[in-house]
Amino acid sequence: MQVLTTIAETRSLLDKARAAGRSVGLVPTMGYLHAGHRTLMDRSVASRDVTLATVFVNPLQFGASEDLSTYPRDFDRDAAMCEAAGVDVVLHPSVEEMYPLGTPTLTSVSVAEISARMEGASRPTHFAGVATVVSKLFNIAGPCHAYFGEKDWQQLAVIRRMAADLSFPVDVVGCPTVREADGLALSSRNAYLTVEERVAAPVLHWALVAGAAAIAAGERDPARVRALVAELIRAEPLAHLDYADVVDAETLQEVDPLAGKLRLLAAARFGRARLLDNEGATAAAPT
Ligand code: PAJ
Repeated sequence: MQVLTTIAETRSLLDKARAAGRSVGLVPTMGYLHAGHRTLMDRSVASRDVTLATVFVNPLQFGASEDLSTYPRDFDRDAAMCEAAGVDVVLHPSVEEMYPLGTPTLTSVSVAEISARMEGASRPTHFAGVATVVSKLFNIAGPCHAYFGEKDWQQLAVIRRMAADLSFPVDVVGCPTVREADGLALSSRNAYLTVEERVAAPVLHWALVAGAAAIAAGERDPARVRALVAELIRAEPLAHLDYADVVDAETLQEVDPLAGKLRLLAAARFGRARLLDNEGATAAAPT
């Protein structure tokens, strides 16, 4: 496995691979890798000739009061996990390599509407930061298949839309959420949880599952589904609810009455950790 720190070396290695007829898989991450990231790497390694994993904590996607400086980092461990997964190349650039003119304030990629609700409402500059860095990574990797987790459903929708609208030669592949045995979605930020908060945190998943079950049982009022999920999360004293929503799975816009393919999404803070989760549901048309 090669560990690279520059865009130029990465580009030239992948250009050579493609010229030799090899397909490229891209797995963008912010590091502190866990079994959720590992499934993205496994998927790419199993189906592509060359897998590039990137480890870069992107300052652009953190708000001023967020956890950029304390975001967990352990590159040696990350590199070992990439190697064990069979990753061919890891790009681990510095902030200066990625943003040589300083973090861009003039150039930004934004995907309106899909970004507006939920994470976008709570973290107004977040998705422009994600879309800008992912568009850079797509430009660095070139034509490829890029693997993202459904764990960050709104992020995945933003990236799919960006790739389509801007004609990136990239096939965006969504991969299912990996969970702990008690339902908690794996996240690098779970490292912030105290023992008590760790016990409380799966409520996020189970509240969303209950909301999805209500839809499966015939509930078509989005306000009632939102209220049900919110009430279940609020019942946990260590959970501080940010939002609970139900939207069209692809456009992430409100649907009322509920119809078609839907996604329930929620975010809550447990102490220092702000955690997200989501769950699918289908509201079949009445027969
Ligand atoms: P990060 O949070 O490190 O996640 C990297 C990728 O792993 C994302 O596609 C995310 O959805 C996926 N992932 C995280 N936890 C997962 C889980 N439990 N199951 C399945 N997949 C999971 O998301 C980012 O980094 C950044 O925003 C990034 C896209 C790299 C841009 O900076």
